[in-house]
Amino acid sequence: MSGAAGFVADLEGRVALVTGASAGLGLASARALAARGARVALNSRGGARLEEARRLLAADGADVVAVAADLSEADAAAHLVGEVEGELGAVEVLVANSGGPPVKRAVDLDDADWAAAIDGTFLFVPRLCRAVLPSMLERGWGRVIAINSVSARQPIPGLALSNALRPAVLGYLKTLSREIAAHGVTVNAVLPGHTLTERQQELARAVAKETGQTPDEILAERAAGIPAQRIGSPAELAAAVCFLASPAASYVTGQFLAVDGGLLQGLL
Ligand SMILES: NC(=O)c1ccc[n+]([C@@H]2O[C@H](COP(=O)([O-])OP(=O)(O)OC[C@H]3O[C@@H](n4cnc5c(N)ncnc54)[C@H](OP(=O)(O)O)[C@@H]3O)[C@@H](O)[C@H]2O)c1
Repeated sequence: MSGAAGFVADLEGRVALVTGASAGLGLASARALAARGARVALNSRGGARLEEARRLLAADGADVVAVAADLSEADAAAHLVGEVEGELGAVEVLVANSGGPPVKRAVDLDDADWAAAIDGTFLFVPRLCRAVLPSMLERGWGRVIAINSVSARQPIPGLALSNALRPAVLGYLKTLSREIAAHGVTVNAVLPGHTLTERQQELARAVAKETGQTPDEILAERAAGIPAQRIGSPAELAAAVCFLASPAASYVTGQFLAVDGGLLQGLL
């Protein structure tokens, strides 16, 4: 069977919730999952961009709903999942994603920075998992995929909050994956390298301000430092998300897959 754009419809009828999905990597992941037959719930803080994303997927022919929720708020994940279950049924594939933390040096961080980042970069993942896991465990099938970052393995200068909290997410996911592996639910993460989205452009603008270069020059320098010699596309990251969501990845759990054009140098 084949779905939109000639993709294999290996997720036909599966309910997927993709958070942080009005733009960038979340939107690309949602589109790719829908192309494989998933019924998709898109989330972001809301507004015109989220509605535009919903329309885009609907125009692709997807069965799609959009639910606004700010994942940095403590009870947002539970409410979001409740609403999605009401609209589409139990969530079978969770893609846990949100906006990245601000650019800050470690020496400049105060308690308010940490508190905001712990909610927005770390806690939203366990909160989402807590909300979707009961039905996945009951059915004996589920996929949890977090969009994390290469910063978990190789700190990025100026991104102290990301460098500290992305590894915490992976520590949580690894522990969770082992606790529930026997129940048919896999837990993995993708680690994007430099991928062309609004976030990547925002980071380039922040560096450009400091160095006096243009954002395009920063992006070109970045590309030159990647073994593949280019910035990645959101669709390339989404392809890895789809693999981890697919039946083919049924024996892959507790893994963190870098999609980075060879940027990470370490063996592990
Ligand atoms: N792009 C890269 O090169 C790269 C590399 C490594 C890691 N990452 C990480 O991967 C994630 C996605 O990156 P991206 O480039 O796609 O980012 P992006 O272009 O900034 O998109 C972020 C998405 O998250 C949503 N969002 C932001 N805050 C939210 C909140 N509190 N609750 C719910 N939704 C929220 C945004 O929608 P609304 O504004 O509509 O809420 C948007 O849909 C980020 O955490 C980023 O740091 C990206």
